[in-house]
Amino acid sequence: MRLSDAARAVAANAYAPYSKFHVGAAIRTKAGTVYSGCNVENVAYPEGTCAEAGAIAAMAAAGEREITEVYVVATGPSPVPPCGGCRQKLAEFAAGDVKVTMATMEGDEMVMTVAELLPGAFTQAHMD
Ligand code: THU
Repeated sequence: MRLSDAARAVAANAYAPYSKFHVGAAIRTKAGTVYSGCNVENVAYPEGTCAEAGAIAAMAAAGEREITEVYVVATGPSPVPPCGGCRQKLAEFAAGDVKVTMATMEGDEMVMTVAELLPGAFTQAHMD
């Protein structure tokens, strides 16, 4: 399955009554499986969760741990960059050279790596 198709499909299920900003994320794993997630907002605003977090949770729940590619799409005028927290969440399961494609619903795309999105990342090595 194409990541772009999975991300667009799941964005349609976003629960975003407050921001009206629909986000879909799809990740491919080392095993080749695709997991997807959408943002799920809450009336207590900080309790809302990002699309990337949903996709990562689905992957982890299935027992997988290694992301090889990421695609994020949202209903904005320009490709949506993952928030800071999601960059850290992606870095937990994706190597620095993993490609993250950010896209608009219309098909504009911007590609960066996980390392470019989170330079100087805090890692396990800092605690050794
Ligand atoms: N959002 C995501 O789902 N992923 C991002 O990377 C950026 C922001 C969501 C969270 C919230 O539901 C809405 O977009 C507006 O911030």
